[in-house]
Amino acid sequence: MKGKIEVVTAQFPSRGEALIYIVFEGDFRKDDNLKLLDKKTRGRLTEKIKTYHFEGKEGQIFSLELNDFYKEIIIVGAEKAGWKKALAEALRFAQSKKLSSVTFFYQRQLGEDFFEVGKQVAIAFYLANYYFDYYKGTEEKKKIKKIELLKFAFIPQLTGQVVTGALEKIKHGVEYGGLLTDGVYLARDLVNQPASHLHPETLVEEAFKIEKESQGKIKVEVFDEDECRRLGMGAFLGVAQGSERKPKFIILKFQNPKIKSQKEKLKIKKICLIGKSITFDSGGLSLKPSEGMETMKMDMAGGAAVLGVFKILAHLDEVGLEINKEVCGILPACENMPSGKSLKPGDVVTALNGKTIEVLNTDAEGRLTFADAISYAEKYFKPDIIIDLATLTGACMVALGQEIAGMWGNDESLLKLLTQIAAQEGEELWLMPLFKAYAKKLKSDVADIKNITGDRYGGAITAALFLAEFVKKSKWVHLDIAGPAFSTQNQGLITKGGTGWGVLTIIEFLRKYAA
Ligand code: BES
Ligand code: ZN
Ligand code: MN
Repeated sequence: MKGKIEVVTAQFPSRGEALIYIVFEGDFRKDDNLKLLDKKTRGRLTEKIKTYHFEGKEGQIFSLELNDFYKEIIIVGAEKAGWKKALAEALRFAQSKKLSSVTFFYQRQLGEDFFEVGKQVAIAFYLANYYFDYYKGTEEKKKIKKIELLKFAFIPQLTGQVVTGALEKIKHGVEYGGLLTDGVYLARDLVNQPASHLHPETLVEEAFKIEKESQGKIKVEVFDEDECRRLGMGAFLGVAQGSERKPKFIILKFQNPKIKSQKEKLKIKKICLIGKSITFDSGGLSLKPSEGMETMKMDMAGGAAVLGVFKILAHLDEVGLEINKEVCGILPACENMPSGKSLKPGDVVTALNGKTIEVLNTDAEGRLTFADAISYAEKYFKPDIIIDLATLTGACMVALGQEIAGMWGNDESLLKLLTQIAAQEGEELWLMPLFKAYAKKLKSDVADIKNITGDRYGGAITAALFLAEFVKKSKWVHLDIAGPAFSTQNQGLITKGGTGWGVLTIIEFLRKYAA
């Protein structure tokens, strides 16, 4: 059950089960709605505000139980740029109080781009309502509290005639937000599915499901082991060779159906999304310790995000939107396992572009699969832009913590645009240096390059520099999502386990990139 959003017109504060109201820090004392609520509750709101020392600061939240025009009023503080998160927190609060339907009014501070407002409200609602209950029994499932209905109320008079059509725009945004979160849900579900239930073949099945749903807009192609060998993907196959499960090199291609002529096609930008798709990373013979292995079902979160994006692309026209880009998704999917057939530390593999790689640590496997995926993209798809998403290094988590992705790239304006879009979508990322001088640490005695440096320092940077060796002509962005792809807590829009990080930023990037 994803829950439902109704967009309605009403006069504040109306009535219902629960009301959520956001108070913005600076506006706290001059908030007319707050005064109105106070009057209607005969001063009880002011009382509560005092006892809670509530000042509308981000993170502050309380509720007033009424059993009157509302059973309960939830007041949450927010910064202007962070209202989506505050709304999600308030919805979580409502869940914890076992409330099943809530009313939330449009407020001026949400902004005047009504499509965007509708979109963000829907994202907050659906993402805070996500729960991975696949393995829960019926009794346990019942205990999971979700909000069934969000009434998003709008007062037409509030904005005057300038914004006729506001209601329609909000509804459209809500619809689009619903589709976006379908993509995020898919990415989360795939990450949360344990590794003995989700293999490279499972990702193939998911890709074909999306192809089918797309009704001709998306085409899927899958290379098996033999095909990969013919293409010369020695690095990818090296990682895969220790496992009982066969590798699958999955390619999805999306084209805007409206673009038909060859001449038009040539003008269209080609964007390639590559997602790390290690369905389980044991480390291989360079075996991880138990604690390090616990969460390694999530090592396909990059691939899951790419599938999430394609799920959205499959249905975009149904919500009246389009993307004028050719988009290619690549998932080099395999397991990284130890066995008698595994790659051994010291082995040398040859990537599709002819480069030889000395594999000194089989746990630095993501970059090996990407050596072939990036080379394949450069040679056969020839994109204008490559964006890769990978749970690539623990070092990136050491650098930026669990909530921020690291970003590297070779094109400044592209990096700027992504920074801006990610900030708007609430997916934190931070620009990191592609510090060329460190590249010499990847020099090998026996091959063209080696897959580790031999020390722990700057591990996320040297991993990015390794990938850069395989980028030829494309503009390229690398996102190390080792931290934010998986969460250990429920917080705002984020739920424990897979987060679906990247889906929102990438799809908005595809819509907005226009160079
Ligand atoms: N999948 C891991 C990185 C990772 C660690 C992601 C923790 C999410 C949480 C990656 O394949 C890996 O094992 N990287 C090694 C690289 C090292 C051997 C150079 C690491 O980070 O320790
Ligand atoms: Zn890995
Ligand atoms: Mn690894």
